[in-house]
Amino acid sequence: MMMTEYIILNEENFDRTVEDAADLILSGKLVVFPTETVYGLGADGLKGQAVKDIFKAKGRPSDNPLILHVSSVEMLDRLIESRSELADILIDAFWPGPITFVFKKSDRIPDEVTAGLDTVAVRMPNRKFALSLIEAADTPIAAPSANTSGKSSPTTAMHSRYDLDGRVDMIVDDGETDVGLESTVLDLSEEVPMILRPGGITFEMLSEYIPNLKVDGNIVNQSVVPKSPGQKYKHYAPNAEAVLFTGYNEEIVKNINDYIASHPDRKIGILATRENVDKYIGENLKVIDMGSQSELIEIAHNLFASLREFDDSDVDLILSEGFEEEGMGLAIMNRLKKACSNYIIKGRE
Ligand code: TXA
Ligand code: MG
Repeated sequence: MMMTEYIILNEENFDRTVEDAADLILSGKLVVFPTETVYGLGADGLKGQAVKDIFKAKGRPSDNPLILHVSSVEMLDRLIESRSELADILIDAFWPGPITFVFKKSDRIPDEVTAGLDTVAVRMPNRKFALSLIEAADTPIAAPSANTSGKSSPTTAMHSRYDLDGRVDMIVDDGETDVGLESTVLDLSEEVPMILRPGGITFEMLSEYIPNLKVDGNIVNQSVVPKSPGQKYKHYAPNAEAVLFTGYNEEIVKNINDYIASHPDRKIGILATRENVDKYIGENLKVIDMGSQSELIEIAHNLFASLREFDDSDVDLILSEGFEEEGMGLAIMNRLKKACSNYIIKGRE
């Protein structure tokens, strides 16, 4: 165990915190910092030992590679062999922002970062503190989501503190993250670009620039082996058993109510949309309103925090409404399917 310094960021301490955090990063230490997607567990991405310490702090399998975070395209160029024309267009359109690109890597990157792959994942985050920190340290910062491996990604610094207190050197609290789900991972290292993980930048948004864009088969059908190492692991697992319900809205509500009725002895949590919160009937229900069906951005923002809220309660069964797998719905459903270990009750459709 180590002492974890916990800093609540404000205007007054911003510059000093950037400096302190950058000093820690440069001396091989671990810093939890906010990005616009989720909190990251950062270390100097060019120091093999510091990167090893990330894996240790999270309990992360060492064959799951990390994302390097940069603050400029010039910093990206130090990490890769070359940039395609398409990469330039996508960088212009979406960086800084919630999308990670996978490139062929240069030899400068320690094997610990890429888990021995010949490619590297890079992202420029769109959050003032994150960009200032990377710029001040002037080194790419390797950062997975700042949670214990297998749990939901942290959308507040307190989530990270709960998981990592005593395992990192500093936690910087800058309030809630914006997107609430991890970045889209787009593989640009092969002939045809492929989404390896859906996220804040959607398939539809990318298709405007990439007519032949593919989605890893695993995202739609989880019995297909995923291309991205991280997608094969158990993820987002709440403490309680969880079940996902898909189909038409009325079917979802009816099937959830039937499930509640047939499990009278369970303390049930419902991940509901605003339109349905008042439709569930039962004794021991804890219903969380994740947001409106017409605002999937709001649902994405609230999803992980809602799962953690159930962990803090006495709920022993979670029933979640499902969503259409388009737009932001693809990323939301990807996380929900994992949280529910792929246990899905389908409507007739
Ligand atoms: O939004 C995010 O991406 C957050 C914030 C902190 O930036 N980070 C994040 O990191 O979610 P992590 O480690 O939890 O997820 C990284 C994902 C994993 O699924 C990993 O397998 C994949 O990116 N990945 C990393 N390097 C890769 C590579 N060279 N090829 C394919 N997939 C890669
Ligand atoms: Mg993660």
